[in-house]
Amino acid sequence: MPLSDHKRSLTVFANNHLNGDPDHDYHITLKLEHSLRVLKNARIILEGESIVGRIAQLTTQASLFHDIGRFPQYARYGTFKDADSINHGRLGVLTLRNQEFPRGFSAKDQRLIRAAVGLHNVKEIRKDTPEPLATMAHVVRDADRIDIFSIILDHLDPTAESKPVVIHSLIHDPQHYSEEVYQTVLAEKTGDYGHLRYSNDFILLLIGWLFVLKYSTSVRLIAERGLIEQAFSILPKDDKILTLKDKSHAFMRYKIERTP
Ligand SMILES: [Fe+2]
Repeated sequence: MPLSDHKRSLTVFANNHLNGDPDHDYHITLKLEHSLRVLKNARIILEGESIVGRIAQLTTQASLFHDIGRFPQYARYGTFKDADSINHGRLGVLTLRNQEFPRGFSAKDQRLIRAAVGLHNVKEIRKDTPEPLATMAHVVRDADRIDIFSIILDHLDPTAESKPVVIHSLIHDPQHYSEEVYQTVLAEKTGDYGHLRYSNDFILLLIGWLFVLKYSTSVRLIAERGLIEQAFSILPKDDKILTLKDKSHAFMRYKIERTP
């Protein structure tokens, strides 16, 4: 089954969750378009990292379907906040099983794809995760984070129309951010959605993702798309933020110079 058919399956499934209300439908369409962009990102990462063959094929499917749980989640709960509704990665696993997606794969390969979908939103991938699952999950997570990075920045742009669901209803105060979130990111650790208070905290969390991306191709994509510059252009310009900015740029240079 060609990839275009799988894309069509996801599109039909997503569109079944539209209800004619513009705000509701905006969120469904946002996640469908996100899924298709994550697929594109994943293919760039696979190529850049020379990951080929069956593992690349399975990863491609996992990237396309990684957020399938978002559609029933939004339709049922009207939120993308897992803490207030349901873990959308696990809901994705159940949805794939019910829909028998993706079609044309062996039961074993479908299980692997579901497992990667279930891991796409866990805080960390355990070091003892077996292959090919570990690689599949890492590529999907990087591809996903790169796209979430631009979605959130676009929604936090001062000229953008505010969509509270997308930015998890955070306080939109251009001058404030939480010290705890800042320190976590400065220590190059993954921030927790539960600790976000201000919209700037979300931007800090995104910047923190830079340090935990698995592949240098992913860092290159972030750099090429100017996402770090865009993030710092929104944050306040105090000394602490400038320290983090220097650190982020140094990190990107280091990673990209080491890319073959
Ligand atoms: Fe997700």
